[in-house]
Parts: sequence; C-alpha cells; structure tokens
Amino acid sequence: MKILLIGSGAREHVIAETLKKNSNTQLYSYLKSKNPGIISLSKDFELGSYSDLDRIKRYAQKIKPDFAFIGPEGPLGNGVVDLLDEIGIPSIGPTKSLARLETSKSFTRLLLRKYKISGNPKFEIFTKKKLHSAKLFLKEMEECVVKPDGLTGGKGVKVQGDHFQTKREALDYCNEVLKTHPRVIVEEKMEGEEFSLQCLTDGKIVIATPPVQDHKRAYVDDKGPNTGGMGSYSCENHLLPFLTKRDVEDGLTITKKVAGALYKETGEYYKGVMYAGLIVTKDGVKLVEYNARFGDPEAMNVLPLLENDFVDVCNSIINQNLNKIKIKLQNKATVCKYVVPKGYPDNPVRNKKIEIGKIQKGAGIYYASVDQKDDGIYLTSSRGVACLGIADSLEKAEKIAETAAKSIKGDVFHREDIGTEKLVEKRVRHMESLKNKKL
Ligand code: GLY
Repeated sequence: MKILLIGSGAREHVIAETLKKNSNTQLYSYLKSKNPGIISLSKDFELGSYSDLDRIKRYAQKIKPDFAFIGPEGPLGNGVVDLLDEIGIPSIGPTKSLARLETSKSFTRLLLRKYKISGNPKFEIFTKKKLHSAKLFLKEMEECVVKPDGLTGGKGVKVQGDHFQTKREALDYCNEVLKTHPRVIVEEKMEGEEFSLQCLTDGKIVIATPPVQDHKRAYVDDKGPNTGGMGSYSCENHLLPFLTKRDVEDGLTITKKVAGALYKETGEYYKGVMYAGLIVTKDGVKLVEYNARFGDPEAMNVLPLLENDFVDVCNSIINQNLNKIKIKLQNKATVCKYVVPKGYPDNPVRNKKIEIGKIQKGAGIYYASVDQKDDGIYLTSSRGVACLGIADSLEKAEKIAETAAKSIKGDVFHREDIGTEKLVEKRVRHMESLKNKKL
C-alpha cells in the first residue's frame, strides 16, 4: 500500500505511526516543515505549501498512492481532495464542499437548523448590510460569542466574559470581523464542559472514538490566552468524569444526523473524520463547532488505542464498507501534554534548540512545529512536542506524560495540571453546580 500523507504536525506524526503499524505501508509525505518524526517514517517526502495545489498534484502523480490521508484543515479547505479525486486518487478527508462543515460555521449552523438537528444554540448570521439588526438580537441573550465565518486557526472566536465584556464590544468586534470576512455569527454563550468526539465515517456509517477533553488556555488552572490546545486526556472507560454514557450517545446521534444531512444537501458522501466539538450543558449536549479532521492534540489520545489495522479502516472508509469492520479501541487512559516555546502563544521565543532526554517506556513523543537541523532539533514559534502517556488509569497516564514533558529541556514550558486529579475534579464540580442550578 502506498499512502500519501499531507500535513506536518504532531497529529500527522501519530497518523503516520498508526498507518505504519501495517508492515506493508509505504508512506510518502507532503509537509510544510521538516518534521523529523514523519520523515523518519516516510519512504520519501516533499516540502511545500498547502495552497500550492500544482505541487501537491505533481507529487501525487509521481508517487501514485493508493490513497491520500489529509491531516489539517488548510488543504481540505483548499480543495485538495477534489484535486486528487480528478487524478483518480481517493482520500481520507472531505471534498471542499463537505469541508464547509469546518470552514464555514454559518453553513454548519444552518444545516442543523434546516434538518432540525438538535445542538444549535440561539444564533444569527450577519453581513455588513444586516449588522444593524444585531443590536436587537444581542438583547435576547445574557452573554454571547462572536465567530468569524471562516478558518481562523482557532483564534478568531471571541467570548463575552473572556475576551470582551459588553454587548457594545461584541458589536465592535462584529464590525472588525466584517472587514475581513463576508459574514459573522453571533451565538448565545453556552455554559458547561467541552469535549471532543472524533468520529470516523464513510458517509453512511459513523463510528465514535472515545471522548477527549482538550485544554485551550496556555497556563495552569485555565489561565492565560487561548492556544491551539495545550494538552488533552481520555479515560479507560471511554467516558469522561463529567460525562454520562447518554451524553456521548447524544453527541454521536448529532453527528450521525449531520452526516445524513450533508449527503442530502450536497449529494456527496463524507469520507473521513467528523470531529464534533461538543459542550455538555445543564440542558444537555450542544454543538460548539465541527472540524473536518482529527483534533490536535486529540488525535494522540485515540489513534494509539486502535487495535484494528488503520489501513484496513481507511480502505473501508474509501470503499464505504465501514459497517463490515468492528472498530476496537483499547480500554486505556491517555494524557497528552504539549511542550511549547516560552512566551507561547503571544510572544514565543523562536528557533531555540531543545534536548530530548531519555523517554520512559510507555510514553509517546510526537513532533509538531520543530525543525530538524544538522546539530539537533529546533523549536519554531508554535507548539513543539506532544508527550503522551497511556496506562490503565488516568493517574498513571498523567505521570508518564508529565515525566516525558519534563525530560524536554530548553526554553520551553508545559501545563503540569492537565490530567491531574485536581483539575479533573474541578471539571466534575463545575458540571455538578450547573446541574444543581437547574433543579
Ligand atoms: N484541539 C483543537 C483542534 O484540533 O482544533
């Protein structure tokens, strides 16, 4: 099997590792930076930009893969799957039209509304022309969230109480967004605990992997600016301490209905990963947003648990017979902690060398934004190395991840609290207090 992997982060490193568990896999990678982990697993690689569609096409034509696996949202939004399809190469990843699930928040909210799928908060979409009516709409809710309609690398969403305080400021931000985006979405702020439910789908069958909780804030105790995700955990019972089985089933039901609605709406089957960013509130499970790919870091929490041959799973997605295989994921807890440059995300130190000490057995190290140079590994300015612990309990998995993160020396930091009992307990208490408010 020749497989072309597009992407160069820790998510793609774990995808590469999981695909390579099948000894027949010949991996070829198209990356935008020299990720030493992916390169060491690849037979050949090509460096280039995700928007250079001609280059991607030429490389794909040269290697003639059996299929391509598209890791990040950028190339999906650029239509790489459509491009590869034109030259007879199937992909794990949606077409440009289906990737609107992530690239257009208005598309997804309207899809749920049109097909009467539960999970939407109160929301409205505004263009420059219509923004005058936003003031009235804002009066209908206690607090709001403002989202640009497009990809913003996780940094465009602003939440009242966190990023701004008043409705006036919300309107100002709407105006700012509309300078660079055609639409802005205003939503009612939902209070609860967020979780990620990454599902595999061939467009007809949708299978959930264990729920994961990510940590967006940069510093311990959920302080500091938002990041791409500082780390994440999952539990051995495939639930999270603040979630019921019913909550996870409700999240999966939303995604199953959305997969059906996408087909009705576009006439195309979605083949790849539908990652639902969900929130459990006092009124049940709601949708925050969809991503059209695995999460980063959440991919690290689920892929190493897969007992099936991942290449077989990918082929079943492409051939639309996912119903024929039984996906098995180990009953283990996982904790992933990102080691990032000091000053990340606002003022990161750049191009600093890091030393990776001896990594204990059971720990996984996945490279993200690093550069392999002749004299060692250098950070860029973004998340550097993801350290994963897998064990029978969360407590043990956290200790493994923490020891691995501490073994990375240089101008770096990580969140020591991710996966600890103290932080998990805080989440559980938060959920309990919300449920009690309802009573
Ligand atoms: N962890 C958030 C994301 O992958 O978008």
